[in-house]
Amino acid sequence: MKIKLSSARFVYSYFAKKDFNVWLLVILATTISAITEPLIPALLKPLLDNGFKNNEIDLWKIPASIILIFFTRGLFGYLAQIGLTRIVTKGMHHLRLDMFSVYQKLSFKDASEIPSSTLINKIVLDVQNGATQLVGAVMSLIRSSLTLVFLLCFLLFMNWKLTLLILCIFPFVGYSMKKLSSQLHKSIKDSQKATDELSYVIEENVLAIKEIRLYEAQKLQNQKFEVLSKRLDKLALKATFAGAAMTPVTQLLAAISLSIVITYAIVDSAANSGTVGDFVAFITAMLMIITPLRQLSEVANPITRGIALLNESKAFIETSSLEPSKKSPNIPHHHDNLRPNSSNGEILFENVSFTYPGNQNPTLNFVSFEIKSGEHAAFIGSSGSGKTTIINLIPRFIERDQGHIYIDGILIDEYDIQQLRNKISLVSQNIILLNASVYDNICMSEEIDKDRVDQILTQLKLDDLIEKNYKRSSINLGHNSSLISGGQRQRIALARAIYRDSPILILDEATSSLDPETDEIIRLALSSYSHGKTIVSISHKLTTVMDVNKIFLIENGAVVDSGTHHELMTNSPRYKYMFDKN
Ligand SMILES: Nc1ncnc2c1ncn2[C@@H]1O[C@H](COP(=O)(O)OP(=O)(O)OP(=O)(O)O)[C@@H](O)[C@H]1O
Ligand SMILES: [Mg+2]
Repeated sequence: MKIKLSSARFVYSYFAKKDFNVWLLVILATTISAITEPLIPALLKPLLDNGFKNNEIDLWKIPASIILIFFTRGLFGYLAQIGLTRIVTKGMHHLRLDMFSVYQKLSFKDASEIPSSTLINKIVLDVQNGATQLVGAVMSLIRSSLTLVFLLCFLLFMNWKLTLLILCIFPFVGYSMKKLSSQLHKSIKDSQKATDELSYVIEENVLAIKEIRLYEAQKLQNQKFEVLSKRLDKLALKATFAGAAMTPVTQLLAAISLSIVITYAIVDSAANSGTVGDFVAFITAMLMIITPLRQLSEVANPITRGIALLNESKAFIETSSLEPSKKSPNIPHHHDNLRPNSSNGEILFENVSFTYPGNQNPTLNFVSFEIKSGEHAAFIGSSGSGKTTIINLIPRFIERDQGHIYIDGILIDEYDIQQLRNKISLVSQNIILLNASVYDNICMSEEIDKDRVDQILTQLKLDDLIEKNYKRSSINLGHNSSLISGGQRQRIALARAIYRDSPILILDEATSSLDPETDEIIRLALSSYSHGKTIVSISHKLTTVMDVNKIFLIENGAVVDSGTHHELMTNSPRYKYMFDKN
């Protein structure tokens, strides 16, 4: 069995380093419990040699010793089990915490490549299976080794020549283990990938349940599921071939060696004419060796599986690319305490270009514009022209390939990433609310000021909803906020953005699900909150952005025209055409 040093160190840091004392107690308890093993054959010797002669042993001594031996073994075995469970659960807890916090810092590029089902498998299932199998097997390894050692000591004491013969078994066991475990390791990795793919099909079907039913795609989905499930089935069988072969192969080796030893033992003890007690005690101890040997032969399988699973966690923690979190040393000191509600909010793009990974052509081509502090600007343009992409560059959800982006005169890369994001409130095109209460959704990480939230809710005409369904502030909005309407969802997202009170407010189609009347009410409410703030709106309804300070017309990832509504109506035939059509 080949275990890399780095894997061992990783496992050690979660499942041993902080629990040294518990491990010591577990090992101590296991040692005591293992010491009781050779006591049984040791008890047989006086029993057979003297017990059946007339009253040479007190009658009570034998049953009392047996009960005491089993009581001690049971008690300390129990304590070891409790200690071990403590180690496993605590280690899993810390490992999951670290994995989850890596996810919170994961670069958007890496995050977009992991489906949630894979992430669930990784953080919830793999950690559970890996840790339980590994630590359980290590425990079994310790227990079996100790038992073996004590039994061997007893045997050495009884007959050292025979005992040395028994030791010949070990190299064969080791060799076969090594061969089989590398095969097992590979099939476990493949199975893991297949499990993730299978889970993804389920995830997708949960998300698109209505679309799949309506467009009758169940058959296709079932086929997809069947193919992947079958593959998993095959891989599981392959892993079992290697895993299950470990035990019989090593047991066979042990049995062959033991047969030789037993034959020798019988011949030897006959020649040396030891007592019956000696003979029975030796044979019993020798046969008792089979159990720890078998257990030792079985630990390679779960250890390999456990390590393979925990290696996934290790790779996730150690090799994921994270968002830049450290503040660059270049940032001038006086910008240090830029709080979310501080003034400014100036946005400047200079020749910014961007290509999505895997795309041939750039999505944005040398985009340049300036939005001054407190201005209201709008981006318009046909679907797919690059409006959302421009917006996503500002909070660094994606990173530009070329050009410069400045917020308040400072290059965005020079901000601590959270400091930059604190300047921005965003209502995105695809609104996601948490399965939490209305209040939690609006306040997010900030303290809940109920009066302020209620005031915002009233202005956004959401008080009705709150009165009717969410009077108790603890009621959740449901998975994917399925318990409220699309328009309500948009308004809660707006309330969230308003509550944050940051200098830049970005609205990407933020009122697209609202009827014209509500849209107008919301617009008025927004203008009362947005005084002095920079607002960037994206809208397909051109009438809603005609009174903004600046309109940028985007086409094929470039700003093709810009100006006020009146300027564009006279200078830009394209804008005029779009406006007249609208
Ligand atoms: N994650 C992505 N990976 C690859 N290509 C993408 C990705 N997101 C968007 N695109 C592509 O980039 C282009 C611009 O997309 P973007 O979302 O910025 O358009 P948009 O102007 O906001 O459109 P809409 O008005 O429909 O929201 C589109 O051609 C789109 O297919
Ligand atoms: Mg968009």
